[in-house]
Amino acid sequence: MPPDLTFRSARVSEREALEALQWRASLNNPGDREALLAHPDAIHIPPDQLAGGLVFVAESGGAIVGFAALVSRSDGDSELDALFVEPGLWRRGYGKALLLHCAQAARDRGSAALHVVGNRHAEAFYRSCGFELVGAAETRFGSGLLMRMRL
Ligand SMILES: CC(C)(COP(=O)(O)OP(=O)(O)OC[C@H]1O[C@@H](n2cnc3c(N)ncnc32)[C@H](O)[C@@H]1OP(=O)(O)O)[C@@H](O)C(=O)NCCC(=O)NCCS
Repeated sequence: MPPDLTFRSARVSEREALEALQWRASLNNPGDREALLAHPDAIHIPPDQLAGGLVFVAESGGAIVGFAALVSRSDGDSELDALFVEPGLWRRGYGKALLLHCAQAARDRGSAALHVVGNRHAEAFYRSCGFELVGAAETRFGSGLLMRMRL
């Protein structure tokens, strides 16, 4: 894990800052830019999700470097609902560290697996974190990858 990286639940008051981070990260995915600019409402972190304590921020040097969100599934497993790292800080291990933090949080909640509907651009990232491909799903932005990590 990168040195001095810490995790905590995000505050409701941080919603706009986290949405801005999500914009910066998402616009750096080739191919997603046009779809996002056409559907700006796609970037919205529900206040209830923040209040529930399952949106986690990673901080380094006093600044937020990324965030991730977990949601509970009806089968008891958990779903990774968001994962974004500041684009100027990619490939430093922050994304994987956030993901592993979420995996531990999901384990602590009794989940047997962590699921994600992954962006195709992130497939190599998820595989490197231990996810396997289990199917495909249609999203409003095209086809996504159904991926799963056993906990
Ligand atoms: C996906 C994302 C969260 C990864 O964050 P990150 O901090 O750059 O990831 P890490 O540095 O922890 O990467 C861990 C490993 O994943 C793999 N990986 C990460 N990005 C990769 C890429 N673009 N291409 C190939 N492999 C990649 C590598 O094996 C990497 O290890 P290495 O750098 O030692 O080779 C980040 O790129 C991001 O925010 N992207 C935009 C938003 C997004 O697509 N989120 C996922 C939505 S499903």
